[in-house]
Amino acid sequence: MTARTPKLFVKSYGCQMNVYDAERMADALAPEGYVAATSAEDADLIVLNTCHIREKAAEKVYSELGRIRKMGEENGRKPLVAVAGCVAQAEGAEILKRSGVVDLVVGPQSYQRLPDLIARAKAGQRPVDTEFAVEEKFSSLATPARPLATRGVTAFVTVQEGCDKFCSFCVVPYTRGAEASRSVAQIVAETERLVAQGVREITLLGQNVDAYHGAGPDGRDWSLARLLYRLAEIDGLARLRYTTSHPRDFGDDLIAAHRDCEKVMPYLHLPVQSGSDRILKAMNRRHTAADYLRLIERIRDARPDLALSGDFIVGFPGETDADFDATMQIVDAAGYAGAYTFKYSPRPGTPAAERETQVDEAVKNERLQRLQARITERQAAFQRSLVGRRIEVLVERVGRHSGQMAGRSPYLSPVQIDGSAAAIGEVVEVDVVGVGPNSLFAAPAGGAREDIRMLAEATA
Ligand code: 5AD
Ligand code: SF4
Repeated sequence: MTARTPKLFVKSYGCQMNVYDAERMADALAPEGYVAATSAEDADLIVLNTCHIREKAAEKVYSELGRIRKMGEENGRKPLVAVAGCVAQAEGAEILKRSGVVDLVVGPQSYQRLPDLIARAKAGQRPVDTEFAVEEKFSSLATPARPLATRGVTAFVTVQEGCDKFCSFCVVPYTRGAEASRSVAQIVAETERLVAQGVREITLLGQNVDAYHGAGPDGRDWSLARLLYRLAEIDGLARLRYTTSHPRDFGDDLIAAHRDCEKVMPYLHLPVQSGSDRILKAMNRRHTAADYLRLIERIRDARPDLALSGDFIVGFPGETDADFDATMQIVDAAGYAGAYTFKYSPRPGTPAAERETQVDEAVKNERLQRLQARITERQAAFQRSLVGRRIEVLVERVGRHSGQMAGRSPYLSPVQIDGSAAAIGEVVEVDVVGVGPNSLFAAPAGGAREDIRMLAEATA
């Protein structure tokens, strides 16, 4: 009898860095013969790639572990179960105590050691590896070499990991550790390989990506802007994005890159968290609302069609009605094309969690709803402002209906193109003819037809 090919199922929660890390885990396990399982039921190794940013996200791990236990009891198979990601880093051995189904715990800096950890888990050891060695992770992980079919035409590349900002609400500096940048050579090599596989758009990832300062080929530290210009030289690469930035690290050269580097998309995720200076100070953000607005103005001077996105926290300890009003005001003043909103969630070990001025849950809920409603209005207004405009779309896949292709605008909005003969991976010009709740409807440039517009409105 031949041995069964081992199958891996990674379930990722939280941010895009976890999505990227899931690929790196698959790459680290490929030499061991692991292939992707289609579901948890079918897997020999289940990895929960977790998020610790808010309590709700962290608690999901334990409900998922409960489901895995039940699944094992029902079908009589016991796959290996690993907890990875930021909950693994933050809670370590605690997870083994809380859940008997877990065979191993591995933090984000240790995925290159997965084969060894699995061998130890198979021998019944229940290993925990939460060492910090970012450099080792960056250098020893094999560069991915899987075909286009699994990667599509867009991909993430991690360029920086960790954060030294210590916003008083945030666990990232503790779970992902000190800020560290990959070298330019590594990033260029990985990007070139992805582009050779058909990738047209790269999103550079980092918890504090605009603080990037990786070693350049000249032996000096390069900024994010310099890295973007270098990557833009790669033939076949059409688009560059990066996320997430901090207002304090946004350099003049990055502003200039938005003006001068055509491949850098006019889209920016730049969280402000609150519009109140008092709260920003308590959050240890180290900038004021006015600093933020001035910065946005300067970036818009360089790139007037910039689509701005952000993150907001409501109900930070001590937040008054007046503080919250300031947040509502900054939403209008900054002009967001979209934003993510969160209720403050006290995280163990962070300074804000210790404060006695925690805001009532009912107040948080009410503020969240008001803020979300305002942002949804803004988002819809931004989408509507594109109707009638000619934009470029990177075609990513076939659309939902026959004759439709789907892709994204420079502003990251999903676009459905009717009657397009474009191929996946092509950047095409389209006329935006309508908006739906989540996407734009478009026709090939110059070919906008009345019936398409009507169809778009009927669907909207
Ligand atoms: N509570 C609520 N939201 C948080 N975020 C980070 N930490 C917390 C917390 N403790 C939000 C911030 C950050 C985004 C990734 O998650 O808005 O930008
Ligand atoms: Fe967390 Fe971002 Fe602040 Fe760093 S800059 S501490 S990752 S919110």
